[in-house]
Amino acid sequence: MIEKQFTTSYQVYDHLDEMPEEDIQLMNKACEIRDQAYAPYSQFMVGAAVLLENGEIVVGSNQENAAYPSGLCAERNAIYQAGSLYPKEKILAIAITVKSQRKKVIVPAAPCGACRQAIAEYEFKQQHPIKIMFMAEIGKVIKVNALLDILPLAFDGSYL
Ligand code: THU
Repeated sequence: MIEKQFTTSYQVYDHLDEMPEEDIQLMNKACEIRDQAYAPYSQFMVGAAVLLENGEIVVGSNQENAAYPSGLCAERNAIYQAGSLYPKEKILAIAITVKSQRKKVIVPAAPCGACRQAIAEYEFKQQHPIKIMFMAEIGKVIKVNALLDILPLAFDGSYL
């Protein structure tokens, strides 16, 4: 038996203003779309903005449904839209932000497992890391250099 370890380094910014200009712009787009999310059931609004190599930014918000599981997270709405509109374009980064209408969220909310799996598909496909940054409504921003940093031992098409 051998014991192995995962090691992940990530950056924590105290405030969005400390980030490179490109990241600030991307996060601001995520904030704009977050505020238009359709989240009548959870009142938890999420926005995601995907930066492509050609400079385009594709956004998405969570869309809920009275039949709860039929809704979809912001990250998947954004990344599937990017994959649909620009199938050949590399995805460089995704910014995610959340806001609750029930309580003040200040801890950056990381993407859910299903969204990590969805984003991982594109990272495998393009063989190029996708930077992930996430924050709440205000406060700290966490940034990881690649999706696989937050989804070790990921499942991909090579198993099929
Ligand atoms: N949600 C997202 O949009 N992204 C995530 O990564 C986690 C959760 C949405 C789904 C649902 O509409 C609401 O947040 C509460 O779970």
